[in-house]
Amino acid sequence: MTTIYLDYNATTPVAPAVLDAMLPFLRGEFGNPSSIYALGHRARGAIERARAEVARLIGARPEEIIFTSGATEAINLAIRGVAGGGGARSAIVTTTIEHPATEACCRLLEHRGHSVRRVGVDADGIVIPGRVAEAINDGTALVTVIHAQNEIGTIQPVAEIARRARAEGALMHTDAAQSVGKIPVDVRELAVDLLTIAGHKLYAPKGVGALFVREGIAIPPLVVGADQERGLRPGTENVAFIAGLGAAARIAADLLQQSARQMRTLSALLLARLEAEVPGLRLVGSPDRRLPNTLNLLFPGVLGRDLLADCPSLMASTGSACHAGSEEPSAILTALGMPRATALGAVRLSLGRSTTEAEVIEAASRLAGAWRRRQQATSV
Ligand SMILES: Cc1ncc(COP(=O)(O)O)c(C=O)c1O
Repeated sequence: MTTIYLDYNATTPVAPAVLDAMLPFLRGEFGNPSSIYALGHRARGAIERARAEVARLIGARPEEIIFTSGATEAINLAIRGVAGGGGARSAIVTTTIEHPATEACCRLLEHRGHSVRRVGVDADGIVIPGRVAEAINDGTALVTVIHAQNEIGTIQPVAEIARRARAEGALMHTDAAQSVGKIPVDVRELAVDLLTIAGHKLYAPKGVGALFVREGIAIPPLVVGADQERGLRPGTENVAFIAGLGAAARIAADLLQQSARQMRTLSALLLARLEAEVPGLRLVGSPDRRLPNTLNLLFPGVLGRDLLADCPSLMASTGSACHAGSEEPSAILTALGMPRATALGAVRLSLGRSTTEAEVIEAASRLAGAWRRRQQATSV
């Protein structure tokens, strides 16, 4: 049985052109970007080209991009930097549907005495800007809201929330790990001060990411050292991975419209096929304010985990991949007010650039078959 990968929100493969961009810096081009001779200059050149490509993808200026080890580090830098930096304002406003990286930063600061207010979402998995505005006060340092939710794919009204945050004198961060490369993301349109990018969600390798820091915003580093990345992320740069992220950003910009259209069409086909075969199937979250590639589906009467165990050659996720192994329902689904038993029936299918129509049709058929077998097993 052929394997089908429908877990692109967990991670993406490294694109061949990304690998090509990286390999020279793992071979002969091994210079330290801070060195004063040509070998070092070429490494520096690769980093600065990558910075320009990442900036272009999100409508930023190159000097506003700080390379990190991934989204988790970028989120820590943003949240702990702004709210934990010792300024006059120290409170945080966030939501109940954040990635664990954001929630963990908030909890850490909460234990250190910071006020953290978590705003809930509506039944469609969308944060209501007015509720966020109500939670902001003159002690709020930072509002942090996920752009596209990793488990359910809903896109949050970040621009509207940012407008309200900034009107109150707070800074705005968005975790755009899942949206960058899948939908247009522009830091000026979103009006954010800080934005997180994850390399491995956009066909670059794991272990590289970036934080957009709007010009003029000063935050302290998490680790101290020399002055790489404007002193915000000291340590000799991971040149090959940064070059890979630059190539991935360039490819994402070139393919964005076409791949979004393709993923939207294939997701709709997958959903239609499953709805036809699985009576009572439900899509979680807003049907239209969502990533083009993500379907979080509730299969009635079964556990998502059992369903996937019965489809051994189909790689997908129950809830977030970060929680795999846990029997607890996804915290995101329960934040939507979903009963535990219903939430345990969730399966997340996330499509990628190389997903084909044949794969989608085959995946729907395998899932529907597994669902019918489970139904029969429980009814005898
Ligand atoms: C929305 C979101 N934020 C942050 C992260 C963390 O990314 P990383 O593990 O690359 O640091 C992920 C990855 O699952 C994510 O989906």
